[in-house]
Amino acid sequence: MSDKLIIFDTTLRDGEQSPGASMTKDEKLRIARQLERLKVDVIEAGFAASSNGDFEAVRAIAHAIKDSTVCSLSRANDRDISRAAEALKGANSARIHTFIATSALHMEKKLRMTPDQVFEQAKLAVRFARNLVADVEFSPEDGYRSDMDFLCRVLEAVIKEGATTVNVPDTVGYAVPELYGHFIKDLRERIPNSDKAVWSVHCHNDLGMAVANSLAGVKIGGARQVECTINGLGERAGNCSLEEVVMAVKTRRDYFGLTLGIETKHILAASRMVSQTTGFVVQPNKAVVGANAFAHASGIHQDGVLKARDTYEIMRAEDVGWSANKIVLGKLSGRNAFKQRLLELGVQLDSETEINAAFAKFKELADRKSEIFDEDILALASDGSVSHEDEQFVFVSLSQHSETGERPQASVVFTAQGKEVKGSSDGNGPVDASLKAIESHVNSGAEMVLYSVNAISGSTESQGEVTVRLQNSGRVVNGVGSDPDIVVASAKAYLSALNKLHSKAERVAAQG
Ligand code: KIV
Ligand code: ZN
Repeated sequence: MSDKLIIFDTTLRDGEQSPGASMTKDEKLRIARQLERLKVDVIEAGFAASSNGDFEAVRAIAHAIKDSTVCSLSRANDRDISRAAEALKGANSARIHTFIATSALHMEKKLRMTPDQVFEQAKLAVRFARNLVADVEFSPEDGYRSDMDFLCRVLEAVIKEGATTVNVPDTVGYAVPELYGHFIKDLRERIPNSDKAVWSVHCHNDLGMAVANSLAGVKIGGARQVECTINGLGERAGNCSLEEVVMAVKTRRDYFGLTLGIETKHILAASRMVSQTTGFVVQPNKAVVGANAFAHASGIHQDGVLKARDTYEIMRAEDVGWSANKIVLGKLSGRNAFKQRLLELGVQLDSETEINAAFAKFKELADRKSEIFDEDILALASDGSVSHEDEQFVFVSLSQHSETGERPQASVVFTAQGKEVKGSSDGNGPVDASLKAIESHVNSGAEMVLYSVNAISGSTESQGEVTVRLQNSGRVVNGVGSDPDIVVASAKAYLSALNKLHSKAERVAAQG
C-alpha cells in the first residue's frame, strides 16, 4: 500500500454548501489557485450540474489549474455526469465524483428507491463516467449509516465498473474514531477487489470528531485519501479541517508513517483567504490557524519557549505561514514591492488594471495607517474593492453624524448599475443609520441574520473587517468589507452581500 496520503480539498464544493458561504466564480478561482500553491492533490471545484454559475466556475478552474487534479461532483445520473465532464474538458487532470445514498433511511425516505435500484444506478453511473474520464470517484452518501453487506455489494460493483477511488462519507457526523476506523478496515477486508481502488474518508463535524474520525480511517482503516476543507468550512458544524489533518500527519509522522505533498507554509494564507472571502471568521483558539495558536500568554510558557521552543511548541509557526516579521509594507513602498507581496501571499490579480486598482487602494490605506500587515493586504484584495466586474452596487463615500443624546444620521453614496445614487437615514447607531441609508434606496427586503466586526490586526489602529449575512427568499449570503473606519467597512460589507443576493442564480442542492 502506498505511504502517500492524498489530500482532497472540497472547500469549493462541500464547504461552499454552508449557508452564506457561496462564492463567485472569481472568488473560487482565487482560492483554487491558492490550493494549487498549497499543492493539494485534488481540488473539488464544485458541482457543475447544480447551476450555470457553478458550471462556469468548475470550467474556469479546470482551465487555470495545472498541478492539482480538478474534480466536479455529480449525482449518479447521465445528465449530471455529462455536465461534469463538459465543465472539466481541458483540465490537465480531471476527476468525476459521483454519488448516491446507500443508507436504508436515505434510500427509502429521500430517494424513494429500493436497494436494488440504487445498486443498479451506482453501477451505471460509474460505467458512464468511466467512458468520459479515466479518474472516477464513487461515494455512497450516508455510507457510515449504511448496512455493511449492502455497502460491500455496491462498492465491489463500482470498483468492477472502474471506480478508481471509493469514498466512505460520514455524512451526518455520527461516527466515533475507533468504530469508523474499523468500518473502513472491515470494508477493505471483505471486498475482494478492494485493492483496485484508493480508499477515501469524508467526515462531517457534528460531534466535533471529523478530524479524529478521518485520522482513524487512515490509521486503522488504511484509507489513503482524506477529504477536507480549509478552516473546516462546511454545512452545520463543518467538514474535516485540512490544516489540522495535514499538521497532525506531518507532526506525528512517527505514528502515521505517511508522506504528504502539501506545502504547509501556504496554509495560513489559504485560511485567511477563505475566511475573508466567505465571512466565516476563524476562532482565535482554532488549531494551527487561529490567532492564538502559537501565542504563549502565560509567563511560564513564554519563559520556556524563549529557553527552548520545543518546551511548549510541537510545530513551528513559520512552517504553516506565520511570519515573525509581521509589518510588511508602508507608505513609501512601491508598486513592485506591493505586487511581490501579493504574489507571496498567494493573491493573483488577473490584469494590470486590477493590480493598479489594488495598488491605489493600498496607497490610500497607507496614508491612513502607518503600518500595513499581511492581513491588511489580504483584506484589501478580497473585500470586493479591487474588481467591480459584474457588481451591481459599489461603495463611493459615506458621511455620518452621531452625538450623545442625539439620533445618528448617515448618508451613503454608491453606484447602482454604474449610476451614482445617495441614500440617507437615521438609525440606532451610525452603522444602523448607514445600512438603513443604503436600504432607503435599494429596498432589497432582505433580513439581516448576522453582523460581526473583527479587528484585522489586533489594535484600534487596525482595519475593521465586517461580515454581514443577509437572507432573502430562502437564500443566505455573506458580504465582507474592510476599512479602518468600521462604519465604512459595514457599508461595504452590506453592499457586497446585496451584490451576492443579486448575482447568484438558483442552484440544485447536492444532497437535496
Ligand atoms: O457528506 C457527503 O455525503 C457528501 C457526499 C456528496 C460525498 O458530501
Ligand atoms: Zn460532505
